[in-house]
Amino acid sequence: MARYELVKRSVALITLTNPPVNALSSPVRHAIANSMERALSDPKVRAVVICGENGRFCGGADIREFAGPLRGPPLIPVLEAIEAGDKPVVAAIEGMALGGGFELALFCHYRIAQSKARLGLPEVTLGILPAAGGTQRLPRLIGIPAALEMITTGRHISAQEALKLGIVDQVTDQNACETALEFALKAVGKPLSPRRVSTLTTPCPPDLDALLEAATMQVKKKTPGVMAPLACIQAVRAAATMPYSKGMKQESELMATLFNSGQARALQYCFFAQRTAGKWTLPSGAQWNNSKPREIRSAAVIGLGTMGRGIVVSLARVGISVIAVESEKKLLENGRQMVIGMLERDAKRRGVSASLNLLKFTLSLQDLKDVDLVIEAVFEDMALKKRVFQELSKVCRPGTLLCTNTSGLDVDALAGVTDRPHLVAGMHFFSPAHVMKLLEVVCGPRSSSETIATAMSLGKKMGKVSVAVGNCPGFVGNRMLKPYLDQATFLLEEGATPEQIDKALEDFGFAMGVFRMSDLAGLDVGWRVRKESGLTGPDVDPKNPPRKRQGRRYCPIPDMVCEQGRFGQKTGRGWYKYDKPGDTNAKPDPLIQNLLETYRSRYGIQPRNISDQEIIERCLFVLANEGFRILEDGMAARPEDIDVIYLFGYAFPRHRGGPMFYASMVGLERVLERLEHYHQAHPDVPHLEPITMAYTGAQKALKSDKLDEAQALAKSCAGRP
Ligand code: NAI
Repeated sequence: MARYELVKRSVALITLTNPPVNALSSPVRHAIANSMERALSDPKVRAVVICGENGRFCGGADIREFAGPLRGPPLIPVLEAIEAGDKPVVAAIEGMALGGGFELALFCHYRIAQSKARLGLPEVTLGILPAAGGTQRLPRLIGIPAALEMITTGRHISAQEALKLGIVDQVTDQNACETALEFALKAVGKPLSPRRVSTLTTPCPPDLDALLEAATMQVKKKTPGVMAPLACIQAVRAAATMPYSKGMKQESELMATLFNSGQARALQYCFFAQRTAGKWTLPSGAQWNNSKPREIRSAAVIGLGTMGRGIVVSLARVGISVIAVESEKKLLENGRQMVIGMLERDAKRRGVSASLNLLKFTLSLQDLKDVDLVIEAVFEDMALKKRVFQELSKVCRPGTLLCTNTSGLDVDALAGVTDRPHLVAGMHFFSPAHVMKLLEVVCGPRSSSETIATAMSLGKKMGKVSVAVGNCPGFVGNRMLKPYLDQATFLLEEGATPEQIDKALEDFGFAMGVFRMSDLAGLDVGWRVRKESGLTGPDVDPKNPPRKRQGRRYCPIPDMVCEQGRFGQKTGRGWYKYDKPGDTNAKPDPLIQNLLETYRSRYGIQPRNISDQEIIERCLFVLANEGFRILEDGMAARPEDIDVIYLFGYAFPRHRGGPMFYASMVGLERVLERLEHYHQAHPDVPHLEPITMAYTGAQKALKSDKLDEAQALAKSCAGRP
């Protein structure tokens, strides 16, 4: 777990050997303690270098230990022995020094980093804080503002930035270990006291209170209701105002509070859920580890509208050559300019050159003969899409994969018009496609495992979080969205206002409530879909009761809002009013209030006071309820996949873990009981009806040992085995 060697006749080289990231497992902690003892007691040894095997210094905790109780020596005393020793200890950082690994480096007297290494304290993203001295040592080393930023965001930094900040003493393009050995020999005999970070005084700015207050406001705005970054700020305050030992005590107390919080459980669950999502599985038994993806070198995107442009950018920036197709010359030229602008801005931001040479623009599908994969992103119109797929089937070579970006149409119906249904799948990107991380890979009943493996792997290459889902209307994300939106508008009918509903959801943790979000996305899109599906507009039978469709409750208020030309931010009016079209500052609109009052009196609805609790329960439990149906229908493989979709595609607050995890935290029995209650009150809303069996199954799945693993991760990150 750690190799000990005497090199250059006087340097003890301790190499952590715990692949893949040399995590600080119990045997590694043991081995570090023993090796340090040996080095310090051997008179031949004049200096020590600690490095990691296979070009990786240390990635922090060992996830294999998560399932059981952690054993072995606690991390902090092991690290304290390094700092207290009377021989210089140099950390040779290659690859990564993250979490506990970064803290290990901070206990060494010197740090040398290879130029490609990444360093950071990501604990906050798991709902905890760096509790092996990270919050007390980093401020002493680099000052409050820089330490605060790193600790409260969990951001990884480059070796160059670490040098600039004063975290590392030298950056090398060569082997860090070789450089560290030379460095260690030169350090022999130099006084060690100034190198012991625990003895340093934190450089304290005169406006400390104002600085911490500003940081507090910033995290409250960015991550409302999330505890860990606030606790990090408190710990950093301790580093500035208390002696080291007291600060360490404070760090450990704050950690104890976070460690047992529901938020830490939720955030750690998200971490595992995201990893699990890549491990897709199909009802046929095909799965991620028995299906080989094809390599995609060239692709085509059809339709350069809102989605197509972003998809072209996502492909080109990872080195895939793209042929972009439009239907008219003017639209093609417009699309070309937009794509080039987006790619150039993206490249500038990343400090690379834009890969414009990978792009080709055309009006003819004939040019797609030789591409490896096509992504269709034309209007959401089944007849049009079928025509495009028929044409592609004729033009493209037999092995070309044909994918659609439809947001909810039947992927198998499109497969059915081609000569290769096994090579057809959905690749459902989210808007804007070059920014949003989520990709739903839709598996039709005839999609081959190779097709799914290829779409999943292409998504990963594009930096997306890809989740495999089944082929049903709306797939997973949009299928669940419908009942959520319905509840919000039903609550309006019953007496709530858009502001009240949005506030309840924002207090819960959403960055934007449902109505503000709808104004941002544009209300006309949903209106068009409702008109096309005969829910509103001239196709509705006039004898149909206005608030019922197919025997179910229907709320026509969103249609009435659209009929007034109120399409959201882009028209300056929607559920809210804006100073001008395109403005983002939503203000309550008395006209909407009037509309609601008139509507209620027309239908004899007596408005009632609706509590925030009812808003949350009805909007969110119905989301989870549809999730349970999706699981039962086999349209998602596990609750984690649903949660990942909501976290990355619908901005569900991460510290709540996703709709399924949230339901499990509330308690599925309670969710079931509340849904039964609401369904009794609204029997014409089938989405409120819980399927008791589904709950029992989901309860089992949500009780998976992943939560225990997550708890152990927190323990391990905290250096408190
Ligand atoms: P859009 O209306 O912005 O763009 C569609 C583009 O396709 C237009 O530029 C149009 O000229 C072009 N087009 C139409 N027929 C064509 C043909 N035969 N050949 C070449 N180009 C053709 O639509 P948007 O929003 O980009 O949507 C495209 C698809 O993506 C739809 O299926 C939609 O449901 C789906 N989608 C949309 C999302 C959104 O937020 N807008 C999110 C996820 C999926």
